[in-house]
Amino acid sequence: MKEDQEASRRGFIKKLATTAAAVTAGSSLLATDKPGSFYYLKQQYNNFGPNDQVNIALIGAGGMGTSDTNTALQVPGVKLVAVCDLYDGRLKDAKTKWGADLFTTKHYKEILSRKDIDAVIIATPDHWHQQISVDAMHAGKHVYCEKPMVHSVMEGPAVIKAQQETGMVFQVGSQGVSSLGNEKARELLKSGAIGDLNYAEGFWARRGAVEVWQYPIPDDASTQTIDWDTYISNAPKRPFDSKRFFRWRNYTDYGTGMAGDLFVHLFSSLHFITGSMGPNKIYASGGLRYWNDGREVPDVLLGTFDYAKAAAHPAFNLSLRCNFVDGTSGTTYLKLVGSEGSMDITWDSVTLKRNKTIDNSDPFYIEKMKQMGQTNSGRKMMLPPEQITYDAEKGYLGGPYDHMNNFINAIRNKGKVTEDAVFGYRAAAPALLCNDSYFKNAPMFWDPEKMKQVKSV
Ligand SMILES: NC(=O)c1ccc[n+]([C@@H]2O[C@H](COP(=O)([O-])OP(=O)(O)OC[C@H]3O[C@@H](n4cnc5c(N)ncnc54)[C@H](O)[C@@H]3O)[C@@H](O)[C@H]2O)c1
Repeated sequence: MKEDQEASRRGFIKKLATTAAAVTAGSSLLATDKPGSFYYLKQQYNNFGPNDQVNIALIGAGGMGTSDTNTALQVPGVKLVAVCDLYDGRLKDAKTKWGADLFTTKHYKEILSRKDIDAVIIATPDHWHQQISVDAMHAGKHVYCEKPMVHSVMEGPAVIKAQQETGMVFQVGSQGVSSLGNEKARELLKSGAIGDLNYAEGFWARRGAVEVWQYPIPDDASTQTIDWDTYISNAPKRPFDSKRFFRWRNYTDYGTGMAGDLFVHLFSSLHFITGSMGPNKIYASGGLRYWNDGREVPDVLLGTFDYAKAAAHPAFNLSLRCNFVDGTSGTTYLKLVGSEGSMDITWDSVTLKRNKTIDNSDPFYIEKMKQMGQTNSGRKMMLPPEQITYDAEKGYLGGPYDHMNNFINAIRNKGKVTEDAVFGYRAAAPALLCNDSYFKNAPMFWDPEKMKQVKSV
């Protein structure tokens, strides 16, 4: 351990011991409303003048697009002016939800050519993210693009280039990275709370049909109500298939499987918390065990990822798994394990567990004391807590709000976002390479700094 890390670790332990007394029932708040505190600053963050209104449009008005738009509308000074979708039903719903005067269209370029739109939310299936993002930035629009940033590893550099050339604000939608939970975990890791990181893991278990991508198909789904030709215009040609349109996640032409859908969130959080640029070796295994509904992607997937030693962190391993035929094993978590303890991280809480403290009757400890020429008085010690949970303050609006707020404020203040195109690509690439590893039955190698696929490490 480096000297400064050791000093901050010692500082952390001291702080933990002194604050422990003030902690009720092992629980502490993630933030306070004291002036100068993070939460306080966040509340102040929303001040905006009459000229700061941000007009947005939504492209892809399904589940997440609706959710992102509702979140954006919670940010003061944001107005929705237009919605684009390829299915009539979604455009009709948009008018019902957000107002009959909304401009609606099936052609996203009609959105991009409107002068009254400052920013677009892109929440289409994954195979449209790259093209619409690049076109939107070149049309002078700021972009909030859902994760994964791109559909294949090859597509990433074009988005980065467009962002750099146009200078538009570009935020990828892995909202957890802006949450108080991720921020606290980052601060704790930096302070040495778990010592040197050696391992991380994440996990999803699902079983319900809709949860595992068997979405309902509307009765009126047809080429009369859906612009199928546009939908597949950047994918292999196929006759109309409503399953491929409404259950797109199951098909590799449009979706990115469990890794692109879910693993990508944990890469984003892990990279934010650790400052890592990504893994250099990626290996996946899994299979289609149950959902034989025509899907082309596995329903059980395991990924292992080697992170080499880097300026920001020691070498460590990551294990991610997803099981769509398991209704018993609980929910997603991100766990980081270090030489001194571990952290279980969600968007609004962090549970820090410290390795058990050696008490003074431990024979190994007594022997060590003897070797150091010290005697053990036998007197009992004050021990720091082994577990402490930091919870977000009541009223916390959550990661999705913070992430959207971060985007809108970057537009207003010409500031930076948490998850720009480079960050988004570094999170998407290992997830997409995990799919490549599964389908090619071989490890994939990646240079996370140069953001390039390599033959070996
Ligand atoms: N950040 C998160 O937590 C989160 C959660 C869910 C989904 N997502 C992401 O959001 C995106 C959308 O997922 P979803 O669950 O909302 O899917 P969805 O199927 O509910 O919605 C997608 C919508 O896009 C429309 N569409 C398809 N192609 C289009 C095009 N070329 N132009 C305009 N509209 C088009 C479809 O008609 C549909 O209404 C995906 O990339 C997904 O990975 C993110």
